Amino acid sequence: MSWITNFLTSSIGRKLIMSLTGLFLIQFLLVHLIGNLQLLVDDGGEKFNLYAQFMTTNPVIKATSFLLYGGILLHIVQGLLIWKQNSGSRNTRYAVSKNPNVSFSSKYMGWLGTIILVFLILHLWQFWFKMKFGTVAPIDYNEGTGPVKDLYTLVSVAFKNPLYVIAYVIGMIVIGLHLKHGFQSSFQTLGLNHKKYTPLIKGLGLIYSILVPLGFAIIPIYFYLFR
Ligand code: HEM
Repeated sequence: MSWITNFLTSSIGRKLIMSLTGLFLIQFLLVHLIGNLQLLVDDGGEKFNLYAQFMTTNPVIKATSFLLYGGILLHIVQGLLIWKQNSGSRNTRYAVSKNPNVSFSSKYMGWLGTIILVFLILHLWQFWFKMKFGTVAPIDYNEGTGPVKDLYTLVSVAFKNPLYVIAYVIGMIVIGLHLKHGFQSSFQTLGLNHKKYTPLIKGLGLIYSILVPLGFAIIPIYFYLFR
């Protein structure tokens, strides 16, 4: 079994874990965004609250959530280890800083990731923690589900605070920059390097890293201005 430990702690093993957990988190973000866009439906939160109730009580989705928590933790720990390893090696640092082709995103992945971690702690405390362990008022839509947690009001009250709106918009810009490099880099680590497909993956990554953060950023701005 020690070859597994050796592989997972080797630099290629660490990059592989970063790539696989990164791709998993990329698909989570898209699903999370599609679900959250229901907050923009003008129905007093019914669609969103019923959706959130389903997502947090369905046994299959609940089981996937544990994969998600594990994926986030692994991504953070491995990311910090790779960052430490790179900044400890003078050669790597020299190579990175002297190479004019290294983009801003790629150069500052560690810092961008750290800002995202701060955002995530704020975000989970604000919504997830309050939903799981706090007292979110129940609401009954007479849809046969019984009373469900009114997360819509929790979100709507939070985004009346301009400081949260600014924090979310900054958070989304940082996530966009992190994704810009992370998206194509995950495919590269998996060995998907091809004359024809690499530019396609880069293009897709760029579109994803603009549209997904933009979709998220619209939500707090919309609530602040129109709700
Ligand atoms: C405007 C933007 C966002 C809104 C309104 C929002 C809203 C919410 C809400 C209401 C919850 C608790 C209910 C649930 O679990 O579905 C939640 C959970 C969560 N959010 Fe967000 N979110 C936003 C952006 C993000 C972003 C950008 C990330 C990642 C960087 C993220 C990561 C998470 C995670 C990991 C959970 C816990 C999921 C689980 O327990 O399965 N969210 N979010």
